[in-house]
Amino acid sequence: MGLPILRQCALKSCRNSLKSTSPVFLDFLAPSASVHKQCRSASTATSGEAKPRYVLSKEQREFMDSALRVNQAGELAATLIYTAQTPQIVRSYPHLRPLMKHMYDQEAGHLKTFNGLIAKHQIRPTAMYPAWEVAATFLGWSTAALGREAAMACTEAVETEIGSHYNDQVREILSWEADAARRGEELDDELKEMLATFRRIRDEELEHLDHAVANDSKEAKPYDPLVDVIRFGCRTAIKISEKI
Ligand SMILES: [Fe+2]
Ligand SMILES: [Fe+2]
Repeated sequence: MGLPILRQCALKSCRNSLKSTSPVFLDFLAPSASVHKQCRSASTATSGEAKPRYVLSKEQREFMDSALRVNQAGELAATLIYTAQTPQIVRSYPHLRPLMKHMYDQEAGHLKTFNGLIAKHQIRPTAMYPAWEVAATFLGWSTAALGREAAMACTEAVETEIGSHYNDQVREILSWEADAARRGEELDDELKEMLATFRRIRDEELEHLDHAVANDSKEAKPYDPLVDVIRFGCRTAIKISEKI
């Protein structure tokens, strides 16, 4: 699916979700603990074996809100980086076409996943969306213009930051799971599914990192300043998107 279509789907589903009249108590990220208690009793009533549902605190809901907003922005940036890099790279290195397509297709899948989650849980997308679009396209275009090694160094830098970002999220949700187990409760099924999604996507990002290193990212010149600047840019974009 092309990027413009993905963006249209995201905006359409965001609009639809805001119009939705579906009851908020079905959403474990809904901003009302009393509503969650209703869900808990309902879940235990329908199954004698079911453990009580772990109710997220306000801070935990805010963590998920930020996480999903940042992830959507990051995946948008990733698709744009590959969109800008691919024509230049495959013109000089046609054998890299399948790899570039494979990585783009995975990023497009990630973006679709987070577009869906953002819409479903009525989370505000980052207001920085237009700025990240310009920055990511410029990053992809400029690193590809420097050559194959620089383009791969860009992937290496981005995936190092994004991989560790997803790891932080996985670690945080695992700590909630451990807390729930101590209380004799269990995580909401949707949260468990999100944990599995974050792990799968993290593994795919780290696979991209491996592809970049295998394709001479370390040969980029100048390697250190390039990677350091891109990694700093990623960390800054993540921090801003968490809030704005
Ligand atoms: Fe991704
Ligand atoms: Fe990636």
